[in-house]
Amino acid sequence: MTPVSDIIQKRFSCRSYADKLIEASVLQAFKRMVDQPHRGLFDNAPRFALIAMDALPSEAWKKLGTYGVIKNARLYLAGMISPAPMATCDYGYCKEKLILEATQLGLNTCWLGGTFAISAFGRAAGMRRNELLPTITPLGYAAERRSLTERVMRGFAGSDRRLPWAKLFFCGNASTPLAPAEAGPYAEALENVRLAPSASNKQPWRIVYEPNRKIFSFYLARAIGYKHLRDVSLQEIDIGIAMCHFDLTVKELGITGNWCQDDTAPKIKSWEYMATWQEEK
Ligand SMILES: Cc1cc2nc3c(=O)[nH]c(=O)nc-3n(C[C@H](O)[C@H](O)[C@H](O)COP(=O)(O)O)c2cc1C
Repeated sequence: MTPVSDIIQKRFSCRSYADKLIEASVLQAFKRMVDQPHRGLFDNAPRFALIAMDALPSEAWKKLGTYGVIKNARLYLAGMISPAPMATCDYGYCKEKLILEATQLGLNTCWLGGTFAISAFGRAAGMRRNELLPTITPLGYAAERRSLTERVMRGFAGSDRRLPWAKLFFCGNASTPLAPAEAGPYAEALENVRLAPSASNKQPWRIVYEPNRKIFSFYLARAIGYKHLRDVSLQEIDIGIAMCHFDLTVKELGITGNWCQDDTAPKIKSWEYMATWQEEK
């Protein structure tokens, strides 16, 4: 098994794919993971479907709306969820797990929440009446050279930049930055949150650590204008992705803990409380 931190470091948003079929054994292994039941940290159960583009003539790809941004992808992962409390976070959590599995299998991916035609993908994915399809993800092998559009998109989103620890992680309250050394065994999990993908690379995760109680409270620093895009908040998906990176890392380190929503979590101005992880005593 590759360590989760290595997989997280390997993942990047790939928008130009090689004109090459996914190896049958790899596809089969990934399909098995996609088809199994999924459950998030707050008991929501998103559904996933693989959509092969082979059946469609490349002219039809244009209608899927990813044309121009995503080059040459032959396979997409679509994820659906029924609206419910914490469903969007659970969606991010479960889908990122699949994306990391794909990365481990040597595949490249890209979360797409903005640039696709929802009805065409919804039909192909068998979306049900009560469901939402917040994102799709191309799967394949990266092309040797990034397309011009991809280079422009990466530059625009500042994809290679991440906020420093001091802007993301705090100790005891929302104004005291947490230094990696103070985070002790959890530093790796927090660093893996910092490397997580997020919509437009906004990195809206803020985490407050309470060392005495071994509690990490996750907050969302919402960017204006993001909340109601496509019926779901892409930034709540971002929080689910961050929770996935944190959760997988602490588990791999052998630290056991639980997730909950804590009514007594401190209210912090301009941040929205999402969830808490607490180490088991
Ligand atoms: C929920 C979500 C939605 C995204 N939507 C898009 C999108 O519509 N188009 C796109 O090109 N990239 C999209 N991205 C990719 C981000 O721009 C990318 O993760 C970020 O710039 C960081 O770059 P990296 O993933 O290469 O580390 C999305 C990412 C997330 C998490």
